[in-house]
Amino acid sequence: MADERTERRNNARIAILELANMISVPMSLHAIVRLNVPDTIWQGGANTPLSASQILSRVLPSGDPENLQRLLRMLTSYHVFAEHIINASERRYSLTEIGQTLVTDDDGLSHAAFVLQHHQDALVKAWPLVHEAVADPTVEPFVKANGESAYAYYGKKPEMNELMQRAMSGVSVPIMKAILDGYDGFQGVQRLVDVGGSAGDCMRLIRQKHPTIREGINFDLPEVVAKAPNIPGVTHVGGDMFKSIPAGDAIFMKWVLTTWTDEECKLIMKNCYDSLPVGGKMIACEPVLPIESDSSHRTRALLEGDIFVMTIYRTKGKHRTEEEFHQLGLSIGFPKFRAIYIDHFDTVLEFQK
Ligand SMILES: C[S@@+](CC[C@H](N)C(=O)[O-])C[C@H]1O[C@@H](n2cnc3c(N)ncnc32)[C@H](O)[C@@H]1O
Repeated sequence: MADERTERRNNARIAILELANMISVPMSLHAIVRLNVPDTIWQGGANTPLSASQILSRVLPSGDPENLQRLLRMLTSYHVFAEHIINASERRYSLTEIGQTLVTDDDGLSHAAFVLQHHQDALVKAWPLVHEAVADPTVEPFVKANGESAYAYYGKKPEMNELMQRAMSGVSVPIMKAILDGYDGFQGVQRLVDVGGSAGDCMRLIRQKHPTIREGINFDLPEVVAKAPNIPGVTHVGGDMFKSIPAGDAIFMKWVLTTWTDEECKLIMKNCYDSLPVGGKMIACEPVLPIESDSSHRTRALLEGDIFVMTIYRTKGKHRTEEEFHQLGLSIGFPKFRAIYIDHFDTVLEFQK
């Protein structure tokens, strides 16, 4: 009995040390992305196991292979790399399925930009202030650290805006491909508006799958659409979704409601409602929280993202449950609602007028 208790306490001490040191994980991930390690190992699909010295000789003119190996070992324990022990003094590393999400694909995209976007100085400065979101929810930790809201801050810094667009494209393109394979709600739509559409990738993919959509309007902040690439059949429109939203017979919106408070969501959704004909759909793709707080990767990614929103975007912006979304829709007057679970991260939420 005493032994069992000792064992439990020993395990608890290890677990809390792991949690307390957890910052090493995203920071090391950030480091290996900055050093271009994933593309260097991948080499067009070869994924040949390489030693830290071999990787280093390909990414930098000089450096410390032992320190690189320390990063690789730690991230191996989080299944980013696979470790191949050659002999007592040599270890080599290849990319696992998780590590491969950081490799640049044929369209120049990967999850690497998302890793970099989340760990820019201005965002990192907000993290030691998370407790202040509890003490005073009226001001975001990001605002306390940087003096203005995240989107206003990005808007003044072209390199942050550009990284944000690459980060969104890298994460959203695979999500959209998965969703479009299993969701048929765009059928019959002719004029579609994407609210907060960033570089326009979601609209591009939706139109590829549904060429019957004659007109695609990619709507975002003026400084964002100014940098969006030309996409045939897609018109970029700059504006403010809190003021008005272009009319369409359906409205799409991905990863937008999550970053705003309930009152702000109601304003965005009311502007969508006003721009839709009777029977028109507002199709939102958002992270939806499960009821139970379990330790699965999905639940953790969603709960961690919720704290990210609280810290960076809005202290009362949040990841919501399906029922919370349903209630938001009812409060605006959308009589019909359904949630479709296809992708592990984003759920399709269909509100019909
Ligand atoms: C988290 S990103 C999602 C981007 C894209 N929908 C996706 O999922 O890849 C949120 C988007 O909302 C846009 N946004 C923020 N405030 C806005 C506003 N007031 N009016 C229009 N768009 C806005 C941002 O510029 C950004 O592109």
